[in-house]
This record gives sequence, C-alpha cells and structure tokens, in this order.
Amino acid sequence: MSEKTSTELATAEHHGEEPLFPLPPHRHRLTDTDPRAARRAERQVATMFVLSALLVVAFVAVYVGVDVRSTLNLGPFGVVNASNLLLGLTMGGAILLIGIGAIHWAKKLMSDEEIVDERHPLGSPKEDQDAALEAFQTGVAESGFVERKIVRRSLIGALLLFPVPLIVFLKDMGPTDVNVLRETLWKKGDRILVDITLQPLRPEDLNVGTLVSASPEGLNEVQELEHTQNARAKASIILVRMKPEEIRSQQGDNWDYQGILAFSKICTHVGCPIALYQQRTHHLLCPCHQSTFDLSDSGNVVFGPAARQMPQLPITVDEEGYLVAADGFQQPVGPSFWERG
Ligand code: FES
Repeated sequence: MSEKTSTELATAEHHGEEPLFPLPPHRHRLTDTDPRAARRAERQVATMFVLSALLVVAFVAVYVGVDVRSTLNLGPFGVVNASNLLLGLTMGGAILLIGIGAIHWAKKLMSDEEIVDERHPLGSPKEDQDAALEAFQTGVAESGFVERKIVRRSLIGALLLFPVPLIVFLKDMGPTDVNVLRETLWKKGDRILVDITLQPLRPEDLNVGTLVSASPEGLNEVQELEHTQNARAKASIILVRMKPEEIRSQQGDNWDYQGILAFSKICTHVGCPIALYQQRTHHLLCPCHQSTFDLSDSGNVVFGPAARQMPQLPITVDEEGYLVAADGFQQPVGPSFWERG
C-alpha cells in the first residue's frame, strides 16, 4: 500500500481510471508558510494549557479555602453558593481551555495534508467471477428450477405465504376483547389472603402506613385450571392503610374499610407488578417506568407514562371480621393499550 497526498491524488489515476472524487489541491495555511505565525499559534496554545493548569491549582485552592456555606450575591441571578460556583468555574474553565488549546493546535500547527491509503481492488478476479457464475448456472440447471414449473411455482407460493404465521402471532400480544381484562377472580365476599402466608386479614392486622400484597381466597384451586398464570396475575392486589381523613377521593362511595384501600397490583402502563409505596405522600411508584399513582386520590396518575388510574377493588368485612371484596373490579386491570385507537 502506498500513501498519496492530495496534490498527487489530484492527478493520479485510480486503478487505471480517473478518481471519481478527486481531492481539491491542498491549500497552505498561514502557519505553514510563515514561521512567525506558527510561533504565535504555538504561544497561544501553550498559554491556554498553562491557564488550564493554573485553574486546576485555583480549583484546589477554592476547595481548601472557601467555606462551603459561604454565598455570593449575583444581583439579578440571586444568591448562590460561593464554593459551588467557584469550583464549577475553575474546573469548567480548565477543561474548556484544554479543549480549545487542543483544537487550536490541531487546526493551526498539526499537518493538515489529506492522505489516502489506497486499497487493493475489492472485486474478485474475472476468472473467479466466471467460475462462480458457472457454478450457479450449473446448480440452477441441475435443480430443475427452470424446467420444473410446477415445483418452482409451488415453492414461490409457499415462500410468499411463509410470513403469514408471523402476522397471526400478533394476535397473541394481547386480548382483543377488553372484557377478558375486566373479569378477574374477585367477586363479592371473597376473603383477602396475604400473599405467601395465604392467611386472611382483619382490619386490625394493618397499621396506618402499611402495604401488603394479597390475592383472593380460592386461588389455589385455580392452579388446576387453564390460564392459571393469567388469572393469578390479574387478581393480584395491594392493600394500604391510611387515616380515613387522608383519603381525598375513591373510585366508588365507601370502597375503603376504615382507611384500608385495595388496588390492583398491575401497573396500567405495561403491566409491571407494583408494591413501592410512599406512606407520607400515599404515592405508589412503578419501578419499571416510574409511573406514580396517588392512592389517596382514586389511584390517579400523578407522574409517568401510565394513562389510566390504578383500578380499585371495593372492600368490606364479613361476619367474622375478615376483610373481603365487596364486589369485583369495576374496570379492567392491567395495561390499557386497548383504549388506544
Ligand atoms: S409498567 Fe409501570 S410505568 Fe411502565
């Protein structure tokens, strides 16, 4: 491989042909022809590097010498922390000067002659191309692809239909009937069981600020049934307890029981299970994309990509004092893609 400068390339032939995109003739910079200009540029670059070094020293001096609580009054910009401001200015200035100095050095002093490395021809030799073509034509002739029309046409038909199953599979990406999402295992009178222990709960088992994950009674029998996983996922709920006076709104009248509220555990964005609860704000935070729901205000979305409130389950207690569902969910649980379009 040989290297050619732009001046040489301007007249060079590329593999026996004129280059498609010849480089323009090289134009010298002032610093290439005038030694004094070059020295001046050299001094400018060195000055920036030295100033950068001084700013680093200043940064350390600020860090050591400026009280972190001291402030500066910047008039219309208000009062700012002096230490933060000076540390930022000195470190930012040092980085900036190194960058500008390097660019100035490259533009004014480094060689800017354009160089092209010629490569060997990428195409195969003519003999190889002829051999490949001959092998292909022999293969086509031996396969009978041309003569056997019925085979050829049926193969083309089969290949054209081949992508159809992929399109059909799209149907599995979600139920087209929203009622499938609306129906869960919850129904009136179902006891609420704590996940893992599967024990029923009384209101006094929950302190204010508590969150527990729960499922409906009878979920174990469902394990034998088809679609168990879907049923289990859709039925997952969380229970939270807050002071009754902190509840600002609910999805139905008196759907809480003495400040205990039940919501679906499945995020209405794309269906992650949620159990991150901030008891001070009553916010429920989805860890997947940070949708945030205010459980004291009907489970409404206060932040994030979810487009729909968290469905609430009405609850009460049975004659033995255990928490039960007062009814099923009144709106679909889970992602709300079905609302679109
Ligand atoms: S799944 Fe909850 S925010 Fe995306």
